[in-house]
Amino acid sequence: MFFLKLSLITWLIAAPGLVVSTENVITCYGSVQRLSCDIGLIRVQSAIYGRTDSSVCNAGRPPSETQNTRCSMKIPLISERCDGQTACEFKTDVLGIPDPCLGTYKYYNTTYNCIQGRIGMICEGSYSTLDCGNDVIQIVSANYGRTDRTTCSEGIENKETEDTNCHAPDTLTSVLTRCNDRKRCILEASNTIFTDPCKGTYKYLAFSYFCLSVETSVTCEHSTAVLTCEAGVLKIHSANYGRTDSTTCAAGRPAHEINKTDCFAGNTLAEVVRRCEGKNSCSVPATNSVFSDPCVGTFKYLTVVYSCAGSDGFDFSQLTNEV
Ligand SMILES: *[C@@H]1O[C@H](CO)[C@@H](O)[C@H](O)[C@H]1NC(C)=O
Ligand SMILES: *[C@@H]1O[C@H](CO)[C@@H](O)[C@H](O)[C@H]1NC(C)=O
Repeated sequence: MFFLKLSLITWLIAAPGLVVSTENVITCYGSVQRLSCDIGLIRVQSAIYGRTDSSVCNAGRPPSETQNTRCSMKIPLISERCDGQTACEFKTDVLGIPDPCLGTYKYYNTTYNCIQGRIGMICEGSYSTLDCGNDVIQIVSANYGRTDRTTCSEGIENKETEDTNCHAPDTLTSVLTRCNDRKRCILEASNTIFTDPCKGTYKYLAFSYFCLSVETSVTCEHSTAVLTCEAGVLKIHSANYGRTDSTTCAAGRPAHEINKTDCFAGNTLAEVVRRCEGKNSCSVPATNSVFSDPCVGTFKYLTVVYSCAGSDGFDFSQLTNEV
């Protein structure tokens, strides 16, 4: 068989978090690549077409077709089509154009995680609330359109469910903006939010997400926040230097220094990300000299919501750097 599936479960078993297993599939050109998760949802980590190893997909091939091992091309479509599903398959000869190395016999090398996630479907014209309690929402995938005939089909005319290759291009970006890193959000499946990718088809918003547990650090003005990850690296979800309630960092302060509760420094997230993101630890002074003063006369504090990413093998860069 031109098919090889390696399970890398062992190094992840200790993970308390989101990744159930990590899988790698090598599929020789022309065969069918199938990704599947027995438990959890697919989250593609890397999908490469080309050849970086001469020892696979070489049966019956002359050396000239397998010697070049410096050929690779990313195939973002695999992540776009498979993320958030429990299984996904496609014939590989339709992906990978233009040819990254003519004359070399190539293969598809896809590494993906199976993560603990939830799936949601909202039929066109409906709303739904995502709620992670004290945790924050991390969107894995989203598509407004139609990819099967059965979802949201009750009482709908046949011709309105015929198109099963319907994808609104900016769905993921739009859903990320509305929901990612929030505790709850409301999603609406409608043409006014997403563009109509297939007129005459009755659509639905299909999405998947997981709830990530986060830490919140609070540092009063003039002190310094120290964020540390024992395992993994810092991932900053949100941050504000200012004041949003009258009780935090309020001890011994006169009323006029704590009664303003709508004070936000707009550059906080960018500044904390610059100092902390991807590091094991960092320190951020909660001072006007770092953030400038968003509300003169108010005694402020720095709030940072963060998690330690990668400690469970989960690569968060995939979430934000969607190709
Ligand atoms: C598949 O890709 C992974 C990640 O890029 C790499 O470590 C591995 O060596 C590749 N395997 C083959 C057979 O090319
Ligand atoms: C805050 O307190 C000061 C002094 O006690 C008062 O003058 C001011 O109006 C208060 N501001 C708000 C927003 O309540």
